[in-house]
Amino acid sequence: MIDHFGEAVAATYDRNSAERFEPELVASTVDVLAELAGAGRALELGIGTGRIALPLAARGVPVHGIELSTAMLARLRAKPGGAEIGVTVGDFASTRVAGEFALAYLVFNTIMNLTTQDAQVACFRAVADQLTPGGCFAVEVIVPELRKLPAGQTVLPFGLGPDRWARSDYNPATQAAPATTWTSRRARTGASRSISPCRRRIRYAEQAISVSSVHSQGRRQRAPRGPSC
Ligand SMILES: C[S@@+](CC[C@H](N)C(=O)[O-])C[C@H]1O[C@@H](n2cnc3c(N)ncnc32)[C@H](O)[C@@H]1O
Repeated sequence: MIDHFGEAVAATYDRNSAERFEPELVASTVDVLAELAGAGRALELGIGTGRIALPLAARGVPVHGIELSTAMLARLRAKPGGAEIGVTVGDFASTRVAGEFALAYLVFNTIMNLTTQDAQVACFRAVADQLTPGGCFAVEVIVPELRKLPAGQTVLPFGLGPDRWARSDYNPATQAAPATTWTSRRARTGASRSISPCRRRIRYAEQAISVSSVHSQGRRQRAPRGPSC
């Protein structure tokens, strides 16, 4: 399992994802998750630096995380309340945590970091094993922009700004959709430029429905809606 969120990415993650830390966006996400968790525990797959886990825990929801990157985890631990959140270091496609959860969630397109169908199916299986009856698995993920691709074109830009730009390279046949983000803050801060490549995989709606049906085992289910972010 490749860790795409090593020290260089972790060091700038919060700053480079600033729009994702906007208080309104975080609050509305936490509202939904807190309602789904009810009085139960929540499991965040790919907890990262705690963008959602920390405010969700502050709402009184007991949160546990699974995280591959020790560099991202170190940033979580350094934040107020970060040391109190339980985190299991491992691959969320296969890692199981003790106890059951009313809610498991994967936000900010993190399901795409599992780059094979087998890994994505394994992830749903692992979550199903850890949910209480009636529990929820919430997945926030972009709807791939394949319809924007003219015939023969495979690259789409996204996240364009004065100091950040990114591209997705889509292969509709293999479903690979790696993203590369360039960031430059040299003019304002003197910091050097960074390039973050990230392997990703898209899923088609029917695959998402089929994998969640296989593992729902009587749990609540809702078909994908989009766009979600
Ligand atoms: C896009 S970041 C999202 C972080 C956080 N959930 C948020 O919303 O800000 C993806 C996170 O998932 C972690 N991750 C990616 N693939 C993983 C895997 N297979 N197992 C565990 N963690 C993984 C990365 O290390 C990173 O911290």
